[in-house]
Amino acid sequence: MNAIEIRDLSKSFRGMYAVDHLHMTVPQGAIYGFIGENGSGKSTTEKLICGHLVPDGGEIRLFDRDYTDPGVRVRVGALIENAGCFPGSSVYRNLRMQTINLGLKDPEGEIRRVLEIVRMEEHANLKFKSCSLGMKQRIGIAMALLGDPALLILDEPINGLDTDGMRIMREILVDITKKYGCTVLISSHILGELEKIATHYGIIRQGRMIMEMSAAELEGRARVFTSLKTADMAGAGNALRARFANVREEGGYLRVYDVDDTTAIVDHLMRCGHAVSEIRKNKIGLEEYYVELMSGKEAE
Ligand SMILES: Nc1ncnc2c1ncn2[C@@H]1O[C@H](COP(=O)(O)OP(=O)(O)O)[C@@H](O)[C@H]1O
Ligand SMILES: [Mg+2]
Repeated sequence: MNAIEIRDLSKSFRGMYAVDHLHMTVPQGAIYGFIGENGSGKSTTEKLICGHLVPDGGEIRLFDRDYTDPGVRVRVGALIENAGCFPGSSVYRNLRMQTINLGLKDPEGEIRRVLEIVRMEEHANLKFKSCSLGMKQRIGIAMALLGDPALLILDEPINGLDTDGMRIMREILVDITKKYGCTVLISSHILGELEKIATHYGIIRQGRMIMEMSAAELEGRARVFTSLKTADMAGAGNALRARFANVREEGGYLRVYDVDDTTAIVDHLMRCGHAVSEIRKNKIGLEEYYVELMSGKEAE
């Protein structure tokens, strides 16, 4: 079963599409990295899923039910924009108020549970306003986790965090899916940070989904390339092009794509009279793949 299935979803503001006939499939149990530049429609899509905005058209299904179904709405937790906390109240107090809003049966147990998940047990008495940005984001996640949702929707929770904050956030997100079986939809324009945890990706541009794939598929698409330097770059470039299909000059290096055997490259250059002064084997990760997609090379 899929946690989210979206067909042909559209939303416009003043005649401009923010979300433009979008399709999206988020399998149950996934950490789905929803990736796109600023203004590409990530937050709008998330607000539509959460019912904060009304779509112009299209279909949203959550766990095989229409997203307006009250039975399924209670299974969705979200952190979009900010945690909606009272700054002068303690972390505990904010969570307690939310348990009242939600009418939870075992508020104390639930608060303990979510504080443990976000590693804030020891900070329950801090005033929200005295918390660091990283803590505030975690409190927002704790708020969203009250009531044990099956789907958690997070809007750029990693944005602006320091390295340590990012690491903790990553660990928390993995915990949420692994220990609690929750599906996580997480938007970001910081790719490197999602690459470590995402099991699936959706790349959005100008309100349209331009690519969806699993981490395994991305791995399969990842291309190797060897970058090297020689004294005569132009001559070596010609020699390489005569033998290998995909050779480019980039950033002062010659790049040979999709050739696994580096020795074959060096041998060929030697035979052509070019000594290699510097050589490195690389793999195109999500970041570069994304840049290529964004520049439209593979998008059409
Ligand atoms: N409430 C709104 N009123 C008018 N335009 C909006 C509103 N919300 C978003 N937009 C526009 O829709 C587009 C997508 O925005 P958004 O979903 O916030 O993108 P992202 O979250 O990917 O940065 C942008 O061009 C933005 O200016
Ligand atoms: Mg946004």
